[in-house]
Amino acid sequence: MCGIVGAVAQRDIAEILIEGLRRLEYRGYDSAGLAVISEGQIARLRRVGKVAELQKAMEEAPIDGNIGIAHTRWATHGEPNENNAHPHFSNDRIAIVHNGIIENYEVLREELKSQGYAFSSDTDTEVMAHLIERERKTTESLLEAVLKATQLLEGAYGTVVMDQQNPEQLVVARSGSPLVLGKGIGEMFIASDQLALLPVTRQFMFLEEGEVAEVSRREVRILDANGALVERDFEESSVQHDAGDKGQFRHFMMKEIFEQPTSISNTLEGRLTNDSVVVESFGNKAPELLTKVKSVQIIACGTSYHAAMVAKYWIEAMVQIPCQVEIASEYRYRKSVVVPDSLFISISQSGETADTLAALRLAKEQGFMASLTICNVPGSSLVRESDMAFMTRAGAEIGVASTKAFTTQLTGLLMLATAMAQSKQTLPAEEIASIVDQLRQIPSEINEALAMDKTIEDISEEFTEKEHTLFLGRGEQYPIAMEGALKLKEISYIHAEAYAAGELKHGPLALIDQDMPIVVVAPNNDLVEKLKSNMEEVRARGGQLYVFADKESEINENDGIKIIHCSAKSHYTAPIIFTVPLQLLSYHVAVIRGTDVDQPRNLAKSVTVE
Ligand code: G6P
Repeated sequence: MCGIVGAVAQRDIAEILIEGLRRLEYRGYDSAGLAVISEGQIARLRRVGKVAELQKAMEEAPIDGNIGIAHTRWATHGEPNENNAHPHFSNDRIAIVHNGIIENYEVLREELKSQGYAFSSDTDTEVMAHLIERERKTTESLLEAVLKATQLLEGAYGTVVMDQQNPEQLVVARSGSPLVLGKGIGEMFIASDQLALLPVTRQFMFLEEGEVAEVSRREVRILDANGALVERDFEESSVQHDAGDKGQFRHFMMKEIFEQPTSISNTLEGRLTNDSVVVESFGNKAPELLTKVKSVQIIACGTSYHAAMVAKYWIEAMVQIPCQVEIASEYRYRKSVVVPDSLFISISQSGETADTLAALRLAKEQGFMASLTICNVPGSSLVRESDMAFMTRAGAEIGVASTKAFTTQLTGLLMLATAMAQSKQTLPAEEIASIVDQLRQIPSEINEALAMDKTIEDISEEFTEKEHTLFLGRGEQYPIAMEGALKLKEISYIHAEAYAAGELKHGPLALIDQDMPIVVVAPNNDLVEKLKSNMEEVRARGGQLYVFADKESEINENDGIKIIHCSAKSHYTAPIIFTVPLQLLSYHVAVIRGTDVDQPRNLAKSVTVE
């Protein structure tokens, strides 16, 4: 979603701003803009479409300066056009960029209009610009004006403000949308995500909720929500990947699919002994908490929600305690019941999803015994606000459609279920040792699945003209079927639905004809015989089945049944392994259909508004 970059330096910073925006492109956006103070005036450039358009405009009419702000906008209030793109101005003095949504903007807009302010956009952000300009007239400093203005706001913001009359300083404020400060030598930077600043610094400091700060070249002055001065040091970033490079791959998504063996090795590293999971991997208090826990509530959105659904099968079977799973946007607005000694788990690749974060904050008031997040971004809001955090170590994921973030989440969740089973002694020690061994095999099993790429590319041709696809699975493969359907619809724009195969007769069977491909996820497990009956029901009605199956599943290729052999050595790890061919299928279908694979239309990588 929206991205922010800001800089105050002695050198020209326009190129740094553009490069920062380029690095945030993966988040999803529909327009981009920047403003710098140039020869005492604020100069601005905005363009609809890609950052490349903005860069082209800058090459045609160069602007430069030592202080500036920049933004990629994902439209919420007002369509994606140049007037609505950030930065927004007030009286050619105040310029701001903003992530988040101001909920009471309509009331404020009317008030400002009655005071003579003219609006040139449909955005909620322009209201903030005018409010700050208004307060600036009666305050000593820009910081004070921002403080006063933000007190009037309801909603979420991460914002950077520039004052044409103060070319030495930017002011930043954070409430609900992340901001990070980066320190160079005699220069400072700001961004909504560290990735934007990796070419210029590795020294970072996150702003906490409710904080505002003055940022000048050599100094940062932070005030907390109560106006007290905050002392905090910059720290060396642990972000390992410089995500800017696709390497030999045509798309980031494909690169990330192929990175999965490495990512999962990283997830496992140092967290397994010969025959057990290191329980402390989930936090220092985990050994005590995981022994005591009597039930689990998992909250997530999108792909992370599918990981949560698989975890429910694992936790209930292996730990024998109830596990509830719910979509964050539902959970946060519902009156729910928390049973004593429940653990709250959030799952999120970004750590910034607005609904998941709101659910965590609600959970903290609800009396859970503790909160744990399974997350891929160190220092993100979910990590900082949860009692315990398990970092998935997938490395930066740039493709909007989540791949390695998902399989590393699953790996972490299987480790969690195993750690709980260990702590509560619900599985025999030999079984635990065997699962640990199976966890270690995941990277090599994924390598085997990746070797099927060519086969899958060939069959993907058969999907490209289709309007719809149905995915079927049973047990813990049902959420994997859901994830397969989500991937296909996200990047190829083919309508795809997943059903638990047992539900076929209760509706979807009516859709089956020769134009409806049906993808079945069929590893050899105790449900495979049931699945075979479901497949016969489809075949009898002329449907074309594409079945991802173990050799041991003993499903024969026949009229109407194409088998794609895939091998998972254990039923525990099968959901992780069988995800991979489904990722490859959606990738190849999308490539043939010619869609924007890494940045599919209308979608965002990090959904920081609800
Ligand atoms: C967006 C992304 C998805 C992701 C979902 C949840 O929709 O495009 O890939 O699964 O948000 O995000 P999270 O960061 O919380 O996992």
